[in-house]
This record gives sequence, structure tokens and C-alpha cells, in this order.
Amino acid sequence: MVAREPTESGILVDISDSEFLALSTMVYDQFGINLTDKKKALVRGRLNRVLRNRNLRTFKEYLDLVRNDPTGTCLIELVDRISTNHTFFFRESEHFTFLMETAVPELLKRFSSEGPGQEVRIWCAGCATGEEAYTLAMLCQEMAQSRSFLGKIKILATDISVTALEGATKGQYNSERIRLVPEALKRKYLTKLGEDLWEVSPLLKSMVLFKRLNFMDSTFPFKNSFHAIFCRNVMIYFDRPTKNSLVERLSSCLFPGHYFFIGHSETLGRDSFDLEYIKPSVYRKKVP
Ligand SMILES: C[S@@+](CC[C@H](N)C(=O)[O-])C[C@H]1O[C@@H](n2cnc3c(N)ncnc32)[C@H](O)[C@@H]1O
Repeated sequence: MVAREPTESGILVDISDSEFLALSTMVYDQFGINLTDKKKALVRGRLNRVLRNRNLRTFKEYLDLVRNDPTGTCLIELVDRISTNHTFFFRESEHFTFLMETAVPELLKRFSSEGPGQEVRIWCAGCATGEEAYTLAMLCQEMAQSRSFLGKIKILATDISVTALEGATKGQYNSERIRLVPEALKRKYLTKLGEDLWEVSPLLKSMVLFKRLNFMDSTFPFKNSFHAIFCRNVMIYFDRPTKNSLVERLSSCLFPGHYFFIGHSETLGRDSFDLEYIKPSVYRKKVP
């Protein structure tokens, strides 16, 4: 069905209730993202450009294309278009304060009894365009310098969106994204490229490994656990069963006694799985 609704770029293709149901079921099954009816207009708007670029006249044609694409490219494009990747440096900065003032000193104390060759491992799960991972890299580097930490710092940053990950790897941001970076850190770790464009330093880039990972995978492919996991502002898109299953798999990747951070507007319940509540949006894996 084609709606008679002119926009700047032409006519918007309408999406019927049954087409939206088929699309939202596909997105839920593949990515866990819960597209409620309230998201219908948003989804229709975001996907219209895809239909136009691919010369498709209806959402039925689009659904058939995605279902019958053996390469999986259409699914990647679909999740790229519907996922929300908004983020910025030092977002919800209380978490970083807690990490540096509580979690890192605890970790270094443990390390000091274990001898040299230590590795700090942080997973930034749902990293979008990379700002959260680079914030962590800056702060860990500062910590390493101030405490003469000679071990390695490894930050794994994952997302489902290929476009977001390409942006993350490039590491270039406008003033809006970096506005909360303290001036001293900005001078040290960001280079001005143009009127409103900065790039993170090669050192920060070398500390972060960006990878595509779908939270719906039944297990995660890590040999070693992590000392901290940030999964912030991701689970708001998931329903309760999806969220519970994800939290269980994420916490299985944490070392006991170490920390799990979720977004400020999210909740897990006071004692979820093997995580204990520390303060709003901060949990610690129980020590058996
Ligand atoms: C709003 S961003 C959060 C960015 C950052 N963590 C923050 O708090 O600013 C949410 C991210 O979750 C990712 N995401 C959604 N569903 C996912 C899935 N099934 N697997 C992996 N990442 C997913 C999206 O692509 C998006 O980049």
C-alpha cells in the first residue's frame, strides 16, 4: 500500500499491521529488540529510505527480500537502520567515578598480591559509536600513569550495528559528543581535525578492540572473564525474558567480586542472578 503522504524526499511507503507484525517478530527473534506498536511510525520512517534505495514498492517486497537473502546483508542493514546508537563521552559519569575510585583500587590491591604480568579486562557491551569505550580508555590510561601500573589494559567494545562500529573504529567526533571531556584530557587524547571535528589519539585506539557481537547469541566467545562490564542503555530495548537471559550470560563473563554497570534509567531487581546490588545501576558479581 502506498500512502499519499508527500515528504521532502517523495512519498512514504506505508506499513500495514500484518507487515509490521512480521517485521517486529523478525527483529525480536534475531536481535531481541522489542518493537512495540508505538514504534511503528518510527520504523516506517527509518526503513523507507532502504525501500527507496532498493527500488521496493511495498514492505511485503522488503520482508521477502530480507527473508530470502542468503548473505545476511539485508538483516545487517535492517538492524543498522532500526537500532538507536545515540551516545557521548562521559555519559552518566558517576559510573566512571565509581570505577576509578572504588573498582580499580580494589583490583590493583588484588593484583599487587599476584605478581607482575597483570591484565585489566573491560567489556563495553553495546558500545554504539565508541564514545563509552574511549572514555574508559582515557581514564584507564590516566590510572596506569598515576599508579605506575605496568600491566596491560584491554577494552573490548561490541555492538550489533556495523555502521556504528565503523564510526567507532574511525574515532572522529564533533563537539557535541565530546563536550563533557575534561579540558586536560581533551588536550591529551583528542586532536582537532577541523572546525567541529576531533579524533581520538592512536594510543586510545590501540587500547580498544571493536567487534560485532549479537547479544542474542546463546554463548559469548571469550576465553577469559572481565573485571568490569558496562552494558548501559541497551536493555531498554529488550523485554523482561530477553533482558534476564542476557544478564545471566553477561554475568557469567565477569570475574567474581567485579562490577556490572547498567544505564541510570534501567533496573535489574535488587539481587539478580549471581549479582548483588551495590547502588543504583551498579552490581557486583557474588563471590562464591
Ligand atoms: C543507545 S546505544 C548505548 C550506547 C552506550 N552503551 C551508552 O550508554 O551510551 C544502544 C546500543 O545497543 C546496540 N544493540 C541493540 N541490540 C543489540 C544486540 N542484539 N546485540 C548487540 N548490540 C545491540 C545498538 O546497536 C546500540 O548501538
